[in-house]
Amino acid sequence: MAPKRINVSKLLQRLTRPRYLAIVLLLFFFISLYLICSSVLINQSPFLVVTSLAVQASSFIFSFTPIASFKSFLVNETSGANATLSAFIVPERSLRMADHYGADWTEKLSSCDLFDGSWVADDDSPVYKPGSCPYVDKAFDCFKNGRPDSGFLKHRWKPAKCEIPRFNGTEMLKLLTGKRMVFVGDSLNRNMWESLVCAIRESMHDKTKMVEVSGSREFKTQSFYSFKFEGCNCSIDFIRSPFLIKELRTGSRFEGVRLDKMHDKADEYRDADIVVFNSGHWWTHSKTKKGENFFREGDRIYSSLPVAEAYTRAMRTWGKWVDENMHPHRTRVFFRGYSASHFKGGQWNSGGNCHGETKPISNESHLAPYPSMMMSIAESVFAEMKTPVFYLNITKMTAYRKDGHPSIFRPPGKAGMPQDCSHWCLPGVPDSWNELLYAALVASQ
Ligand SMILES: *[C@@H]1O[C@H](CO)[C@@H](O)[C@H](O)[C@H]1NC(C)=O
Ligand SMILES: *[C@@H]1O[C@H](CO)[C@@H](O)[C@H](O)[C@H]1NC(C)=O
Ligand SMILES: *[C@@H]1O[C@H](CO)[C@@H](O)[C@H](O)[C@H]1NC(C)=O
Ligand SMILES: *[C@@H]1O[C@H](CO)[C@@H](O)[C@H](O)[C@H]1NC(C)=O
Ligand SMILES: *[C@@H]1O[C@H](CO)[C@@H](O)[C@H](O)[C@H]1NC(C)=O
Ligand SMILES: *[C@@H]1O[C@H](CO)[C@@H](O)[C@H](O)[C@H]1NC(C)=O
Repeated sequence: MAPKRINVSKLLQRLTRPRYLAIVLLLFFFISLYLICSSVLINQSPFLVVTSLAVQASSFIFSFTPIASFKSFLVNETSGANATLSAFIVPERSLRMADHYGADWTEKLSSCDLFDGSWVADDDSPVYKPGSCPYVDKAFDCFKNGRPDSGFLKHRWKPAKCEIPRFNGTEMLKLLTGKRMVFVGDSLNRNMWESLVCAIRESMHDKTKMVEVSGSREFKTQSFYSFKFEGCNCSIDFIRSPFLIKELRTGSRFEGVRLDKMHDKADEYRDADIVVFNSGHWWTHSKTKKGENFFREGDRIYSSLPVAEAYTRAMRTWGKWVDENMHPHRTRVFFRGYSASHFKGGQWNSGGNCHGETKPISNESHLAPYPSMMMSIAESVFAEMKTPVFYLNITKMTAYRKDGHPSIFRPPGKAGMPQDCSHWCLPGVPDSWNELLYAALVASQ
């Protein structure tokens, strides 16, 4: 006898009839009540039970629902002397974390700036062995390019006032199930994206269960790449868009950017579940033709516009687009801050160097000053937005890491090639950004 097939769409149709729907919702209510009372909240007040129920019900609908306190904290308390955009104060969610990671840990996290901290020695780092991940670009694979020292890999970022969970690739894939995550930005976001892909790969028993959909093993030339993971129904993509706004080209010639329009690829990530943006390193004189006839708005071509003014307009265009096009209940928006460079004795194109560095800067007063001009522009745009933006404020943590760059350990190329003191070796510093990203996702799931 042939096994009886269940017709799923019929079943769903039935279940959504009002009579059945009421029964299903009631069941859901009682099961939740039972689960909550029996486990997490056994010692809590009735008020907490109610709040938590509401939160559980809403996360049933949108697993990334940004609740009011999350947004108001992220955006509004920045003016308060104690708070930053990047800390967590989300009591309802903490209860669920407590279940997972222990109440003590959660308490410590509940009012903590993740980005205020220090690099500490760590034997469990790096997450993946140097040279082991086939998805590390040649340009970032310092080990394969002959970098002899490995001490720089044995550090972990430790927030001053709290503990964060260790990155766990298995857990990360669980969090991403059914979701699409996209990194949008320049080559430093590609650096971070490759780091995440490799850290997850390390946790997989069967490493053939992840593929880059175009079959690429090199990620420099195309403007779009996508890793898919079997069994997870999820993807982690990279979209190249160093200015975030529209680029103007005539043939292959790059002519400038439109300050009032988003990048052509923006439609491709409008519906993603998690997006990590960045834009910073291309806003320089040398990459914008000194601002001469490079920036446009409508039909207007600015014969000269200071980069800071152009960056402000571009970030506003970005913020407006996010507010108008991304669903705040569906998409979790991250913006990764400016990643520090360490060129000594010149700039990237004028003989600057950083080789021979094997240890982070240990004296805080030797750090380069916070690039407040750039970052305060971005920060003020986040504060004006309706969409909650989780700001990965990694600038200071990277400022310590003069030892983390490829420097002279680049793929063989032309003689006299400049040193790379702005990207990061992988494994390396971006692994810690992803640990913080992971902590943020765990905390807000
Ligand atoms: C944030 O503050 C602004 C003005 O101070 C206020 O209009 C807005 O409603 C606040 N947003 C939230 C989510 O509390
Ligand atoms: C900062 O924190 C201290 C104690 O932790 C508190 O007394 C003070 O009111 C807070 N200030 C602001 C602006 O929140
Ligand atoms: C980001 O970090 C820098 C340096 O630690 C700090 O000065 C700045 O206020 C932070 N920005 C926000 C919005 O928290
Ligand atoms: C990661 O989490 C899984 C549970 O999902 C656990 O079995 C595993 O031990 C964790 N891995 C590490 C390295 O902590
Ligand atoms: C995978 O996820 C997409 C949405 O992201 C959904 O449409 C599709 O049905 C899912 N497939 C499976 C097998 O779960
Ligand atoms: C840090 O550097 C400053 C300025 O160079 C110096 O005055 C101070 O003594 C140094 N601190 C330590 C702990 O070395």
